[in-house]
Amino acid sequence: MRVYKTADYAAMSRQAANIITSLVVLKPACVLGLATGSTPVGTYEQLIAWNQEGYLSFSQVTTVNLDEYLGLPGTHDQSYRYFMDHNLFDHVDIDKARTNVPNGMAGDVAQECRRYDKLVESLGGADLQLLGMGHDGHIAFNEPCDHFPVGTHLVELDPMTIQANARFFDNDPAKVPTKALTMGIGTILSAKRLLMVVSGGDKAEILARALLGPVTPAVPASALQLHRDVTVVADEAALGVYLQQGGQVC
Ligand code: GLP
Repeated sequence: MRVYKTADYAAMSRQAANIITSLVVLKPACVLGLATGSTPVGTYEQLIAWNQEGYLSFSQVTTVNLDEYLGLPGTHDQSYRYFMDHNLFDHVDIDKARTNVPNGMAGDVAQECRRYDKLVESLGGADLQLLGMGHDGHIAFNEPCDHFPVGTHLVELDPMTIQANARFFDNDPAKVPTKALTMGIGTILSAKRLLMVVSGGDKAEILARALLGPVTPAVPASALQLHRDVTVVADEAALGVYLQQGGQVC
């Protein structure tokens, strides 16, 4: 595992965008696993800028997103499809037909989960999966629990996650969907490379537990320790506890 320490959020975003750009330049027809949440927004802004300046092209890239709220159509401004369109896809030269997000409106949820797993498998898995991390250590919507879910599945969101995401729903937790479809930890670990971005002192404790603590489904991001090609790009504030505990950075 490589852990890069950056001065702040802007530098974290630029570093993550550099890593993604290097892959797209080397393999223009790559499969990118993408994430939502506020942390990757700066990374997407940087990728948009470089795309518009002509440094990289997404014209042959295929994307697979991690998760989607159950019951929100892609036109809802808090759906993850809408988030991706507005924060990345609408501003770059990507073919939208090659962008994939689980369908939160699927009538048969179990079938949609199977379809999504087959899709990821048929693409040969992601060449690189971008990840953020929740305050309780969740990745995608894999909440702390007693096992590592393998494939795409339906989850009940933790009250802590609902509370954290209420800021996007008029600060009203009652408006946050209570369920979501998410890639499992197995699907995430099937990516060839993982890139996790983390920012802010409020995640310092959980980041240290994820990177240095025991591998446990109680801290879903700790599963990253099992993968052979993981890069974490985090700002100084997020790495505070990790560094205090002797964690190494590049
Ligand atoms: C949501 C998403 C995760 C994301 C997390 C953290 O729960 N499903 O993929 O990592 O939020 O979001 P943020 O980056 O806003 O802290």
